[in-house]
Amino acid sequence: MPLPFLASLVFEGLPPWFPDPYLLLKSGTAISALALTKWYSSGRSNTSERKLHGRVVLLTGGTSGIGAAVAYELASRGAQLVLLTRHEQSDPFLVEYIQDLRDRTNNHLIYAEQCDLSSLYSIRQFATRWIDNSPPRRLDMIVLCASTLTPPGGKRTETVEGIETTWMVNYLANFHLLGILSPAIRAQPFDRDVRIIIPTCSSYIASPKLDEKEVLDQKNWTPGKAYARSKLAMMVFAKAFQKHLDAYKRPDELPMNARVVIVDPGLARTPGMRRWLTRGSLFGLFLYMVFYFFAWLLLKSPTMAAQSFLYAVMDGIFLRVPGARLIKECMEVDCARKDVEDEDVAKKLWESSDKLIEKTEKESALKRAKAKTAAEKVEEEKKEKEKLEEIEALIGTIKKGKAAQKKGKSKASTKDAK
Ligand SMILES: NC(=O)c1ccc[n+]([C@@H]2O[C@H](COP(=O)([O-])OP(=O)(O)OC[C@H]3O[C@@H](n4cnc5c(N)ncnc54)[C@H](OP(=O)(O)O)[C@@H]3O)[C@@H](O)[C@H]2O)c1
Repeated sequence: MPLPFLASLVFEGLPPWFPDPYLLLKSGTAISALALTKWYSSGRSNTSERKLHGRVVLLTGGTSGIGAAVAYELASRGAQLVLLTRHEQSDPFLVEYIQDLRDRTNNHLIYAEQCDLSSLYSIRQFATRWIDNSPPRRLDMIVLCASTLTPPGGKRTETVEGIETTWMVNYLANFHLLGILSPAIRAQPFDRDVRIIIPTCSSYIASPKLDEKEVLDQKNWTPGKAYARSKLAMMVFAKAFQKHLDAYKRPDELPMNARVVIVDPGLARTPGMRRWLTRGSLFGLFLYMVFYFFAWLLLKSPTMAAQSFLYAVMDGIFLRVPGARLIKECMEVDCARKDVEDEDVAKKLWESSDKLIEKTEKESALKRAKAKTAAEKVEEEKKEKEKLEEIEALIGTIKKGKAAQKKGKSKASTKDAK
């Protein structure tokens, strides 16, 4: 059968039903180019593994995008997850999300704690609760996946405490959280592999410099600059926080066992990225859906974007090398800016962040105290009013009683007279 067919190919050429070879070549090349693009843009997969049973992981941003993929992978490996979310623990979405995660991973050690990263007060409340817990709580890992961004063309917004939102959620919140949790991190036993995973984005390369005046400058603000600057600040802080941990003299005189790892996940199809691409508009969302093929082709899935996080969580190399390394595509890469390593920049950033937190916390404590006094006054006035109403009602009843008595007496006397 193949021989006659081959002979007919040689003597008579291609059969009429055979497609045009030029067309075949063109389609084959196009399909291969697409497959290659997809393979390249999906990035590398993590191959490191580590048992996570019994390890306690604090995770921010674990409810969506890359954070949700990281949460799933860690929970599947048995880690005890504490999701820090801005929602209340009784929020129906959160309750359902956690139940679903528990069912899918067959891991019931997944909990949520409220910690709104746009509020210094909420962060302090959560972190002091954690620190004050008796006996001290085990802590193996902190993964800081939460972030926010303003879509291009959006307006500058401030948190209730008066700090620019992107700076607050993407940088200052993490600075504040790690600052308060630092004693808990340093107090972990020497044989515990403690890791702090900090995400970044390659947009940090184009960020304006970290000048205090520029950070507070409202005129020069753009969504892109604000996001890039917050990521650069986070990288500078990551390096400084590792130094801060390394400088600690443990009571057992053993070296520091906590490592900071900076992770660039690459571009991924997450809710955050969708908001950025669609500019937060319905028309943008319509265009995104129409051209979804390009997003699928060029951007990673959240699971693939989570691979570098998993590498940072699981690879044993981080125990043997100094911390604060930058990981991209499951391998170490160099930082593209010198100021990330600049101690002077780090010192200034640390000091100005401390100052901003102190000032803001004082102001908001004062506001809360005033609001509390006003609320107490209103409550007192309400109670006073209720008391008055009660007395008036009592007097009314007594008066009515007396009037009824009088009426009774006068009726009796007229009866007697009759
Ligand atoms: N996606 C990318 O292409 C890309 C590229 C480079 C770097 N990254 C980095 O990777 C990380 C994850 O990105 P993503 O795109 O997956 O993010 P995302 O989809 O936008 O999710 C952000 C997460 O942060 C949480 N969050 C926002 N504001 C919060 C607040 N005030 N308090 C507590 N939680 C808050 C959100 O919680 P809710 O569920 O309550 O909204 C959500 O879980 C980020 O650090 C990002 O900068 C992403």
